Amino acid sequence: MNKFYLLFLLTLMACTQAPAQAPNTYHLIPAPVGLQPASGGFALTKDVMLVVPRNTEVLKTVAYFQAKIKPATGFDLKTAETTSGPKIQFVLNAKPDAAIKTDGYTLDVTPEQITLRANQPAGLFYGVQTLLQLMPAAVESKTLVSSVDWQVPCVKITDYPRFGWRGVMLDVSRHFFPKEYVKEYIDQLARYKFNVFHWHLTDDNGWRIEIKSYPKLTETGAWRVERTGYFGDRKPQQPGEKATYGGFYTQEDIKEIVKHAQDRHVTIVPEIDVPGHSMAAIAAYPWLSCTKDPNTKVNPGTKFSEWYGNGKFKMLLDNTLNPSDEKVYEFLDKVFGEVATLFPGQYIHAGGDECYHGYWEKDPGCQALMKKEKLKNTEELQSYFVKRVAKIIEKKGKKMIGWDEIMDGGLAPNAAVMSWRSIEKGVEAAKQKHPAVMTPTKHCYIDYMQGDVATEIRIYSTLRLKTSYEWDPVPAGVDSTYILGGQGNLWTEQVPTPRHAEYMTWPRGWALAEVYWSPRNKKNWDDFAKRTEQHFSRANLAEVKYATTVFDPIIKIQKNGSGKIVADLSTEIAGLDIHYTTDNTFPDRFSPKYTGPVELPDGTDMLRMVTYRNGKPLGKLITLKADELEKRAKK
Ligand code: ACM
Repeated sequence: MNKFYLLFLLTLMACTQAPAQAPNTYHLIPAPVGLQPASGGFALTKDVMLVVPRNTEVLKTVAYFQAKIKPATGFDLKTAETTSGPKIQFVLNAKPDAAIKTDGYTLDVTPEQITLRANQPAGLFYGVQTLLQLMPAAVESKTLVSSVDWQVPCVKITDYPRFGWRGVMLDVSRHFFPKEYVKEYIDQLARYKFNVFHWHLTDDNGWRIEIKSYPKLTETGAWRVERTGYFGDRKPQQPGEKATYGGFYTQEDIKEIVKHAQDRHVTIVPEIDVPGHSMAAIAAYPWLSCTKDPNTKVNPGTKFSEWYGNGKFKMLLDNTLNPSDEKVYEFLDKVFGEVATLFPGQYIHAGGDECYHGYWEKDPGCQALMKKEKLKNTEELQSYFVKRVAKIIEKKGKKMIGWDEIMDGGLAPNAAVMSWRSIEKGVEAAKQKHPAVMTPTKHCYIDYMQGDVATEIRIYSTLRLKTSYEWDPVPAGVDSTYILGGQGNLWTEQVPTPRHAEYMTWPRGWALAEVYWSPRNKKNWDDFAKRTEQHFSRANLAEVKYATTVFDPIIKIQKNGSGKIVADLSTEIAGLDIHYTTDNTFPDRFSPKYTGPVELPDGTDMLRMVTYRNGKPLGKLITLKADELEKRAKK
């Protein structure tokens, strides 16, 4: 047979066998490595049996699955070792399947049964997440939904993670998040196959972990005065005012959270941020700093630093540990010792970021130490401190990871680097043959605004969903074996509540989940944007908050050559219409539709805009008043 004819026949066969369901019926986040669509579905009923091997870890995952589907379906699915009826079968491969690497899974859904296979229990957990996402969105409901046909569409999936470190950091110092919420947050992360929860437990605004050797860390350090308003512009603690706002996790709380995370195959990386960012510890034990100011208070969100650009800054109050005092190392030995006992993961994060050296420069003890150790500058003094901390952590049987400033002045042997100031810092760490976790501000700082400042709580920078999605943690030329993965960071200066933590995390967390899990060639922004909308519906039912900022326009205001203000509008996702007004009325789909830069009429009081799709309003109504327009046009 002519080879072109053969190709034609094969193509024809592939087409005639094409299933009824298009691939994106499946709406999975993160996108799996391989997905073969098929027609038909598996009917999940109360009589389906769960066929499970005798393995404690697998049984935990099965119990998790049972608990997840019960509220919405009302089904109390039973487990068995075998059955001839409809079943969901969980299999731990006796012989590892090389196609799914260590933590992957295969999921085969046919009308008769669902088979989930993995080499390790973690793979079965990830497969369960996929299975839950294949089920109708109603499965996310917290209450019984009786009118749903609980079909799982037939499909064959082969899937495994691109990176072993898929993390999100939550800062519980700037605002305290209660134990139950931390558990809920970890659960939300696990739903998207994140496997690292980086827990930023200490900072200037609260010390959140009970350390039995130093009780004042939480008696004093966990509490500040209550303030609202923009974090960074708040009134300091007044004389006689009691510090009553905050909280901490007891060691028992931590054990409970660690177990909760383990049951979800999530490793917790605890962070004790030293030598900078330590005002809460210094409020408890002033001798930890060079200045030893007994009036140091846990900071309630007042301004105490000045930023000069190019990463240069000054701390107006001393929030830095004294690297020349042996008592400080004894303190750290005890603190990291207790931390190491509580957290089973291999890494402890020791911070190292944004450490101000001004008080060290004036301190005779630091000067004497620098002379003795032949340290040329305070960067080397910080490096001396970090290396000693790394030794302490290693003595406790753990590895140290720190923010990328730990490279300044010389990196500690064996330390891993969390690259936040740029991707290049991670590249530099990899070049030095150190492991790196990529979390550059530009793509991963989910504390930044998601859209225009007119629609968001004011923060100093913006990170749109598309920017979280469209980047790669392994830039060209880097040895990928040193890139452990990446994470999103939720700093919480402007995040006072759990609901707002969710708003900031989702959907950017979904974008990052896909960056860290899915193969580079499976990423597709337009497709991801569509799937994101499906997950909004799921989040509604799960009562998880998220931001819809992706529907709002990107606004650029400039002046043209004739000095007129011009609005240049665009959207992140395709298919949206922007309707606007300049006459103070509220825009709807009958208002002018944006087709290109608009020169605003003289005397415009307000530019108002809103997005529509297929005639339905979608985005928020955004209003920019004359003074704001003028201000932006001047920039
Ligand atoms: C950081 O954002 N200071 C690590």
